[in-house]
Amino acid sequence: MKPAILVTGAAGFIGAHTARALKLAGEEIVAIDSFSNYYSTELKDLRIANLLTPLGVTVARCDISDSDALKKTLEDKNISSIIHLAAQPGIRLPVERYGQYVSANIDAYLNIFTWGLKNGIDRITYASSSSVYGNYPKAPFSESFADIKPISFYGATKLANESMAPTIIRKSKMKARGLRFFTVYGPWGRPDMAYFRIAANLISGKPFNLFGDGDALRDFSYVDDTVNAVIALHNELESRPAEYHDVVNTGGGIPRTLAEMINIAESQLGLELQSNVSAKHPSDVERTFADATLLHSLIGKHTPTPLESGMSEVIKWAKDPKVSALISNWTETTV
Ligand SMILES: NC(=O)c1ccc[n+]([C@@H]2O[C@H](COP(=O)([O-])OP(=O)(O)OC[C@H]3O[C@@H](n4cnc5c(N)ncnc54)[C@H](O)[C@@H]3O)[C@@H](O)[C@H]2O)c1
Repeated sequence: MKPAILVTGAAGFIGAHTARALKLAGEEIVAIDSFSNYYSTELKDLRIANLLTPLGVTVARCDISDSDALKKTLEDKNISSIIHLAAQPGIRLPVERYGQYVSANIDAYLNIFTWGLKNGIDRITYASSSSVYGNYPKAPFSESFADIKPISFYGATKLANESMAPTIIRKSKMKARGLRFFTVYGPWGRPDMAYFRIAANLISGKPFNLFGDGDALRDFSYVDDTVNAVIALHNELESRPAEYHDVVNTGGGIPRTLAEMINIAESQLGLELQSNVSAKHPSDVERTFADATLLHSLIGKHTPTPLESGMSEVIKWAKDPKVSALISNWTETTV
């Protein structure tokens, strides 16, 4: 059997879609996840049942921050490269819970690299985030900006990942690439994200907690576009020399406001969203806006899925009876 790609965070939103696309492209997959309870594990189980089980992909339960557990889970596996998507996402955890970011985004990150080095793996693509840019005064955000400052602890852990990678792979045959994801949305998504709660609350008729006045700009990325970029960038990394490291924006460079997203969802469902407006969260950035020049130079230019089309897939998914009966509960399971 050909060696497998290890996908971490495969019970998660981007991880499950990535594992599915890789499998459909004929790759062997080893998929792992801790099934963290940051949001509903029922949603994670259903996501796997719908996206992965029909393709024969199973997700092994493993907490990567436990290096012994990681070693044990992977001991008989033949792995050629790693796509590391497991993390504690979201910017809203309170300071008393910042340890969750350290455990999932720093300890687990170091463990996966260390395991890779010990096991002769020469290629790791890992998830970073547009949060590393904080409230950078200039846009679009370019990977060449040298003085970026995250405003969330989450963003700080992702920027730390980017500085750690070259030091870990120094003097090894490994090459690594960090992907700065920009507000990824789509079916089977994450219930802490605004688009998910907007769709869920429209369907349930519950009021939506709107932080700020809806003018925040986001470079919304449809999940299929992001997954295509993950796979193409992981493939492109293969041609690079040992010790190579870079970071790449995966956003399409077409930001829209949250208010526009709400209008799109309302008009597609023919319903009006009731909103409870409160102050913007201190860790929420004012805008995200990717400079996609590097992305296009590495994997070619693709027209991003328009927000209207992507949201129509989300709404179609959310209206499916097996989802609409549960979607509102899932939004209650997270911060
Ligand atoms: N979705 C976005 O818009 C977005 C934007 C920027 C960056 N990212 C990054 O992309 C990656 C995937 O995000 P997502 O939206 O799919 O989030 P997700 O929470 O749906 O998926 C992450 C998965 O990682 C798992 N995990 C957490 N800690 C783990 C550990 N110690 N060991 C093993 N598994 C662990 C969780 O159980 C979860 O299933 C993350 O690294 C996230 O920080 C996502």
